[in-house]
Amino acid sequence: MSINITTRLAKFEELIPSNIPFVEGKLKGHQDRKNYSVIGPGVSEDAKQNVKIAEPHGFNIGAVSAAPMNGSGLHSHTTAEVFIIHSGAWRFYWGVDGTEGEVILKKGDIASFPTNMFRGFQNVSKEEALMFVVLGENDPGVITWTPNLLKDAKESGMVLMNDNSLVDTEKQKITDETKIIQPLKEDELESFDHYSSEDIEKFVIRFDEKDKYFVDDEHYQSNKIINYIDQFNIHNKSFIPNIPHRTGFSLSLLHGKKAHIHEYKLEKSEVYHCLSGEWEIDCDGDKIAIKEKDTFSVPKNSLRSIKQISDEDGNLFIIRQTN
Ligand SMILES: [Fe+2]
Repeated sequence: MSINITTRLAKFEELIPSNIPFVEGKLKGHQDRKNYSVIGPGVSEDAKQNVKIAEPHGFNIGAVSAAPMNGSGLHSHTTAEVFIIHSGAWRFYWGVDGTEGEVILKKGDIASFPTNMFRGFQNVSKEEALMFVVLGENDPGVITWTPNLLKDAKESGMVLMNDNSLVDTEKQKITDETKIIQPLKEDELESFDHYSSEDIEKFVIRFDEKDKYFVDDEHYQSNKIINYIDQFNIHNKSFIPNIPHRTGFSLSLLHGKKAHIHEYKLEKSEVYHCLSGEWEIDCDGDKIAIKEKDTFSVPKNSLRSIKQISDEDGNLFIIRQTN
């Protein structure tokens, strides 16, 4: 085999995070967090952000960990943003002032946030918490911050330039003030969308309620599948999504102690991301194992199969390029 598949394995413990990934990085409630770029650069504003797997996949995958009561301030995206919770309890809130609605999510929960709306999140558990994030497109663009966040950041000495680079004004002098991104004006804010808690709840699937969503692929009673986003096909069966967003990728969950998928090929990008259990992946005859928090990008067109090999129920997310 010509490629070394271990270069496509992102073991969580080996990832290198950014400690000041965004303009808010010095603010209370946002300073005690780490940002990981697992597949693609994501939307990090840190020019030095380490990217584990740079190959374009049609989507990006990152991770965020935060200390209690830390997280991200209010910002908007131009592509999909889907959260996969790994630990702790995360409170998501939204609207220009962050008071339009909220939802609290725990391990295994999924939330897909619409584009063009301000959202923030914080770890409301008592310990460091982790979640992964899937962003749409090869280039997920830049994020737009609320005016208050940019003002507070500037007071803390952090500014964002119009090439999306960060400047710490305590360390670096700004030569051209006209290149600083200015807070949006009142009329510019009117173009952003508004959602109630009930609206966003339609884009949330809780792990606690998985029995409601499980579909059997009629496969030796070993596989239970939840399809969250876009069409998903395995073993000649098609699964309809539970969340109606067009993201450019599909997101599904394979669950079970003896869960497995027989050999198949795929032309587009495909990623396995482990929530729990231990999964053995065979890729054109090479074997690799992934555990909780690990991510593996399967080489395109390779003949692949997977099986859960621990003594417990395993949970594996499958993300596929659909654009
Ligand atoms: Fe975001």
